[in-house]
Order: sequence, then structure tokens, then C-alpha cells
Amino acid sequence: MPVLWLCLDPEDVAPEIQDRLRSLLPPDMAIVTQREVPDCREEVEIAAGWVSPDAVLQLPNLKWVQHWAAGVDRFTNRPDIMARDFLLTRGSGVHAIPISEHILAYLLAFARGLPGAIRAQLAHRWEKAGSAQRTDVFELAGKTMLLIGVGAIGARTAQVASALGMRVIGVRYDPSRPAAGVERMVGQAQLLDVLPEADFVVLTVPLTRDTYGMIGERELRAMKPTAILVNIGRGKTVQEDQLIRALQEGWIAGAGLDVFETEPLPPDSPLWDLENVIITAHYAGHGPHYHERAFEIFLDNLKRYREGETLRNLVDRTRGY
Ligand code: OXD
Repeated sequence: MPVLWLCLDPEDVAPEIQDRLRSLLPPDMAIVTQREVPDCREEVEIAAGWVSPDAVLQLPNLKWVQHWAAGVDRFTNRPDIMARDFLLTRGSGVHAIPISEHILAYLLAFARGLPGAIRAQLAHRWEKAGSAQRTDVFELAGKTMLLIGVGAIGARTAQVASALGMRVIGVRYDPSRPAAGVERMVGQAQLLDVLPEADFVVLTVPLTRDTYGMIGERELRAMKPTAILVNIGRGKTVQEDQLIRALQEGWIAGAGLDVFETEPLPPDSPLWDLENVIITAHYAGHGPHYHERAFEIFLDNLKRYREGETLRNLVDRTRGY
């Protein structure tokens, strides 16, 4: 009997979702919901949820993995997994709202001087922005955002930023594709030309051969000394040792970071103690509607799978996302 393995906690699968799944699956397909690889591993045809690359190796008859994350570099970086013939789809679209709001939170926090205000509050100190102890506040309106990666997250971020009166320049794989809110689109080869224009450089790119270490000393030195870097994609797209130097030596003014080269960020990382850095522990994509949105993608894809149509968010193995 073929099996759909939902690699989730049972409470993440609402009864209404179970009914919708049942109506889309062939009558003889069983559903198993648990985080561990099920005992009936030979029968698993579809796996969905937080499936790990190692689990894939244990499922000899697997035809399709619908991953819940947007980034699938843990799969695409593994030649042993990529040698296996199965469809891989990802959760692109689930994070557009929470991550664009997370990016905005970093931007507003820097603009309104919140890191310093929180430190002053903890010490019961009354400090005004622009005083001897504190940098001054600024407005986002009129500032330029360089958005590196204009997928689902980047597209929503561009709309939010432009609604606030920011100018947005986009960097994407295919710069001939426009996006609402993006005034100018360029390819990765033009990155060094546009970096000096940016007040905020926002990375939303997946980790691929092309993006690995794409921000290093040359790129950081090309940025304005007042610029702020935001990374919510993958830590390894930025050379972290160079970023630390840039922040310590004032090549750039600050960073909002949700992702790091090593996660959890090691306790001895200098990033923890830099006053011009806001650190969040890789949760920019979290939110109350995560499973609901991931299931919408999966249910749509189940229909397509059944009808032999191309799946949504299908990973292009050569591009790496
Ligand atoms: C992802 C994430 O979905 O990092 O890729 O949260």
C-alpha cells in the first residue's frame, strides 16, 4: 500500500486538512504522521513536511518530497541526495509576509534607534537619540534598498518598502523580469555597480553555487559607511569574518542578521557584542500561519501530481533552488 508520510507533529495537521488530503489521495494511499521515518519505509511514495536529507536515503521508493522550508540547500548541497531520482518542491511563498515584516522590523529598529533605546532602558538611563551617547534617528522614506533576491520574500519586501517611500533596486538571476515596487532590476554581475547606491542591502537569496560567499570584503567596502546589511536568507552567502571586520572598523554602519555561517551562532562570536548588530535566532519565517500556508502549497501540488502536471516550487537541480 503506498504511503504519504507527513513529517510533522500530529497536532500540526488540522482535521480539515486531513479531510482535504483524503479527498485528493488515491483511496489505497495511507497517511502516516510522525517526525521519525516510518517503519513502512519501502512504501513511502510522497514525503512532506520537515523531511531531512538523511531520511530521503532511507526511502527506496520515494517519488516526491514537498519540503516545508523555502531553502533546500541541505538537499542540493548533497551529491548523494541529488543522485537520487525524486521530485523536490519547496515552501516558497510561506514566508513572504513574516519575513518581509521581519526585514521591516530591522529597518525601523535602526531608523528609530531602538537597539540603543533598549540598552538604555535596561540600564534605567534617559537618553535621547542624537545626544552625546546616542546616534541620531532617520527616516526610511527616501532611502534606497538594494534587494538581493527577488523571489516571493523579496517581491513582498519591495512592495512594503516602496509603500514607505523607499526606492528599491533589485538584483535577480533574470533581470529582465520586473517586480512591483522595484524601480531598477540588475543581474548579479552588476552588484558592485549598485552597492554604493544602497542605504540598506537586503539579502533574501538561497544558498547556491552562485550565491555562496557573494558578500565579501570587496562588496562590503563598496557599500556606504552609513549602510546597513540585512540577511534573512542563508548565513553562508556572506563571508562572516569580513562582515565582522566591516562592522568593527566602520566600513558599514550596522547589520540585522537572522542567519549565520554556523547555527546556533557560537557563544564566542564577536557578533553578539557589537552594538551595531541586531541578532535574531533564525526565526524570521516563523508565524502563526506557517502550516496553513505550507499545506495550501502541498494540496495544490498534490492535485498537480495526481494529474501529471508540473509541480509548483519545483527545485531546479542545476540552479540549486
Ligand atoms: C527556510 C528558512 O524556510 O530558513 O528556508 O526558514
